[in-house]
Parts: sequence; C-alpha cells; structure tokens
Amino acid sequence: MRSRHLFSILFLGIVTLISASANSATVTRILYQFPNLTSLENIAVRSNGHLLLTPVTSSSLYSLDPSSPKVANLVHTFPNATSLLGITEYEPDVFALVSGADPEDPSIPWVIWSVDLKGYLEGSKNPLVRKIATLPKALFLNGLTHLAPGSPWILAADSQLGLIWRINVNTGAVNVAISDPLMAPVTEFGIALGVNGIHIFQSHLFFTNIFLKGGFFAKIPIDPRTGTALGKATMVARNGLCDDFAIDSKGNAWVTQNLLNGVQVIKPDGSVRVPIGGVNDTILEGATGAVFGRTLKDKNVLYVSTNGGSAVPVPGTFRVGGTVVAVDTNLL
Ligand SMILES: *[C@@H]1O[C@H](CO)[C@@H](O)[C@H](O)[C@H]1NC(C)=O
Ligand SMILES: *[C@@H]1O[C@H](CO)[C@@H](O)[C@H](O)[C@H]1NC(C)=O
Ligand SMILES: *[C@@H]1O[C@H](CO)[C@@H](O)[C@H](O)[C@H]1NC(C)=O
Repeated sequence: MRSRHLFSILFLGIVTLISASANSATVTRILYQFPNLTSLENIAVRSNGHLLLTPVTSSSLYSLDPSSPKVANLVHTFPNATSLLGITEYEPDVFALVSGADPEDPSIPWVIWSVDLKGYLEGSKNPLVRKIATLPKALFLNGLTHLAPGSPWILAADSQLGLIWRINVNTGAVNVAISDPLMAPVTEFGIALGVNGIHIFQSHLFFTNIFLKGGFFAKIPIDPRTGTALGKATMVARNGLCDDFAIDSKGNAWVTQNLLNGVQVIKPDGSVRVPIGGVNDTILEGATGAVFGRTLKDKNVLYVSTNGGSAVPVPGTFRVGGTVVAVDTNLL
C-alpha cells in the first residue's frame, strides 16, 4: 500500500515535469539543477555572461556559464554563515553580497562582503574577498542593490525590520536609508517578512512586499546620491505573494512568485500577467530570483533561480534541488 502510494506520487511528479517542459520546451531550458536540499535564493550576472548564484542552504557562492552549464563552479565559501542572500554588482566585476543565518539564530551575524572577480579564473585563481561591514542591528537582510554607477553606497532590504539599510563599500559605514509603512513585515507561514527584493530604475527604488496586504509591488522616489526617500512609497500592483525581480529596458518588472511557482510581468501601468509557470507547474518550482543576460546573445534571456519547492512543492510532486532556468522572453 505504502509503496504504491509513493509510486503514484513519484509518477504524478514525473508526468507534471514532462508535460510542463513539453508545453514550454522552446521557451524554457533547465540549465542546471543542484543536489536535493540546495535552495537557491538569488542570482546575478557578470559582464562575461556567467551567472552568480547564492544558496540559503549553505554559505558557498557558485558561478555557472550559461553557454556551457555542465558544472556549477564553487567561487568561495564564506566563514561564520549558513546562508547567502542578496547579491549586486557595485563596480565592474566586483559584487557585494549578504551572508547570514535564519533569523532564529542570532549567534551568526549579518555581513556584507565584497567579492572582486576582476581577473578571476574559474577553478584556478581565487577571487579577492573582503568583509565590507557587519550589521549587528539587522534582523533579516534579503535583497541588495547598488545605488548608482560610481556610488559607494549599496542598499540592503531588511525584511524583518521593514526598512532599507545603506552601506558604504569603502568605509563600511552603515545607517538606515529608508523606512516606509509599505515596507512593514507581517507574519505568514510562521515567519515575519516585509520588503524583499529591491532594484533601482529611473530614480525610484522598486520593491516587493511578500505578505503585507496580500503581497504587492511598489516604488519610492529616491535621491540617487544618498539613497534617501524623496516621497512616500506607492503601490504599482497588488500582485500577491512575490519574491525578487528584474526590470527590463522598457520598465517591465519580471517578478518571481516563489510559493506560486511562476514569473509575473508587471508593466509600468500596473497590469500583471503570468506568462510562464504557475501554481501547478514544476518548470519554475519555487522561483526566487531573476536576472537578464548581459551578452548580445542572451540579453533577452531571463535567468531564474529556484529553491526547488523547498518551501512548498508543486501539488502532487516532490522537492527538487535548486535549479537555474533560462526563459527566452522573445517567445513570450
Ligand atoms: C564569527 O562571528 C563571531 C561573532 O560575531 C565573531 O566573534 C568571529 O570573529 C567571527 N569569525 C569570523 C571568522 O569571521
Ligand atoms: C492546481 O491543482 C489543484 C489540484 O491539485 C486544483 O484544485 C487547482 O485548481 C489547480 N490550480 C490551477 C491554477 O490550475
Ligand atoms: C530528492 O528528494 C525527494 C524527496 O523529497 C526524493 O523523492 C528524490 O528521489 C530525491 N532525488 C535525489 C536525486 O536524491
């Protein structure tokens, strides 16, 4: 009885997997799948086109060449941390990222690191890694973004305090840049979370709030020199549960839905559609982060990181390892 039940669960999972990839074989490609229990949180892209991947299940940063995605290359393992989260480029080929723990473990501090990949050769030469700052007052650092080209400031969303820290990459100075009622956390599924993904477009900080008012996408005007707010945040769309996002050149936001297993497109007018994935689809199971390619060949390809359904698997299927999926947005 038990084994028959298990078999039908596995079988259902395989059928879902096959039908999902058959429906969208030309649009989506699975580039790489990490082992079971690896949960990817965020994704960035280097100027050479290689992807950088942060897992919440370890403190090891990986890179992946999307033109030859046979192996994920271990870039660096950070000390004193159990998870990596937001990652952003702040100088050509120099990235900042967040390391930390889950909020229940206060013994592990939240740290912003610099990873200099200039001249870095995968597998042979080590990257230059240094600590930018420790944030003892932070509760849950999540999304990270660079303020403006040439600026020393990066912004970090604190999902549990419901505010934005700013960190100077040269001096390590840390203070609160923005605090707005639309960034506030509420508790769902046993965890308090508010402001989550953050990215800047046309002098506005765009952000998701995963749970407040059912989940929404919002923007706030900011001073590009300091990162402080020049007004109140306003909602762009009430798009439900959502995680991180990438903004294309036309100002459309491509928003990952994490628990809802899809990617939404939110136009600047606030209209929302889900062109890929969906609650019962395994192709973007547990989608967490998204970034557009940077080379001529892949500038219309959206690379999506997933947690493999580690929070909630697609109904009738099982959890898989965190996956990197290439979505050809020209075909959507
Ligand atoms: C690890 O964190 C503890 C507590 O913040 C600190 O005292 C220690 O120096 C850290 N170790 C490393 C290697 O960063
Ligand atoms: C997802 O599948 C469940 C059954 O497993 C069904 O009740 C639900 O309507 C489906 N949702 C969508 C959006 O297709
Ligand atoms: C991954 O875990 C699921 C159970 O959650 C299991 O059914 C599956 O066989 C595992 N896959 C591998 C490759 O270990």
